[in-house]
Amino acid sequence: MKSTKQPQPTVFIIFGGTGDLAWRKLAPALYNLYLDGWMPEHFSIIGTGRTQLSDDQFREKLLEGIDQFSRSGKAKADQWAIFSKNIYYQVSDLKDAKTYHELGARIESYEAEWNEKADLIYYLAVAPNFFPIIADNIAKKCPKEGMDRTRIVIEKPFGHDLESAKALNKQLQGIFDETQIYRIDHYLGKETVQNIMAFRFANALLEPIWNRNYIDHVQISVTEQLGVEDRGGYYDGAGAMRDMVQNHILQLLCLIAMEPPINLDADEIRNRRVDVLRSMRRFDADAIRFSAVRGQYGHGWIEGKEVPGYREEPEVNPESNTETFAAVKFFVDNWRWQDVPFYLRTGKHLNQSASVISIQFKNIPHSIFPPEAAENWQQNRLVFSIQPEMSIRLQMQAKRPGLDMTLNPVDLVFDYSGTYHGKPPEAYETLLLDTMMGDQTLFMRSDQVEAAWELIMPILHAWESKKSLSFPNYPAGSWGPENAEALIAQDGFHWFTLPVNGKHG
Ligand code: BG6
Repeated sequence: MKSTKQPQPTVFIIFGGTGDLAWRKLAPALYNLYLDGWMPEHFSIIGTGRTQLSDDQFREKLLEGIDQFSRSGKAKADQWAIFSKNIYYQVSDLKDAKTYHELGARIESYEAEWNEKADLIYYLAVAPNFFPIIADNIAKKCPKEGMDRTRIVIEKPFGHDLESAKALNKQLQGIFDETQIYRIDHYLGKETVQNIMAFRFANALLEPIWNRNYIDHVQISVTEQLGVEDRGGYYDGAGAMRDMVQNHILQLLCLIAMEPPINLDADEIRNRRVDVLRSMRRFDADAIRFSAVRGQYGHGWIEGKEVPGYREEPEVNPESNTETFAAVKFFVDNWRWQDVPFYLRTGKHLNQSASVISIQFKNIPHSIFPPEAAENWQQNRLVFSIQPEMSIRLQMQAKRPGLDMTLNPVDLVFDYSGTYHGKPPEAYETLLLDTMMGDQTLFMRSDQVEAAWELIMPILHAWESKKSLSFPNYPAGSWGPENAEALIAQDGFHWFTLPVNGKHG
């Protein structure tokens, strides 16, 4: 985990420099790190892409992204003038050795100018089929003695299935040491997600009740109002399980279910996270029918606007069998969690955009209150709201003021916006700084990625081998397919939602 040190001089090379990620996320993140004083004294950012652009044109493009997406608002002219001097652009063909020789020469020229060696961060914001090509070329063509100062950052998707993830790991590990490979899962960088560990392990109160004796079930719900937008080409080959469950949602589950680590070392924490994945119950073909639900959105309405069904989206197969919704009931087979269900759900074009983890505690063993006292009986719940509301809520029963004894659920709330001023850093700020600092805590280790694939492969196989006859099975703007309600209702629970902008949806 980060200290207050500053990173070493750094050359930051973004493959896919003209892409969406660089524009929306990476440039605003680097700029905010600069504003907050986290960038090293000497740094360069080189964007690469096929488009012919001058340095100035590239800077303009990044500035547009910063002006639109930076948490600190539009860039200030004087700050931008200094920051942008460190940005360069190189037209590149990723398959051509010349690209890498040119990059190598640039790196050497910056180092000569600074009179010191730099850490080299290669950020692969490109389609996954380029990962091995780039990795190979970096190793062969970039300055040899720079290899031990090199880090490679890999965006998701990391593999398409277990086999391809293993092959990619093998390939990367044949070139780089595991300590040089940074597999991004941007959920791990979110402020509220990082706080799950702080909240669990910095408070003595929770650990004694954080187990099967007190916890009834856990829900992790990551719902989105957005559809696939212009990403149909990618999404139709992926689906909700690959896009969200294999990575983000399983990582959230790991943070909730992990054992206390003995310290904050990156590998200690990653060991505890991977232990969870390894303890998770495997599905046999029969169990999948009762434990996993898939859905695909049809035509519907989002916030009063009519939207087409998934099969009508650009670059999507009109007979697509791809799921845009997934709900799964998992179990973690260990002493702490035996028989406690973990319900996960995620989907596109749902009623609300909200990422919420709800831990529901068991009911009281004996009630001293007459039935009429409990108007709205609600078992205790601890709710981590990751976004859009950033809060932690403990839901308790309390006496409603009045002369009679009537109980009502009330929330004890820790709300970021009421407690702290200013917007917290974006996930990419944290993750880029960690990469510069060489801290891998919030990145996926090879065994984690593989364990997550291994867990979901039986579900993917079952779904891919049998076309869904009911697709589309939920209208855009709803809460997903009815079967997802049944998945949790059959155990006597219901999906928990927090009101967004005062509405429950
Ligand atoms: C990405 C997925 O990893 O996460 C997208 O590919 C999804 O499909 C996005 O929309 C959600 O991230 P966030 O930070 O907006 O919740």
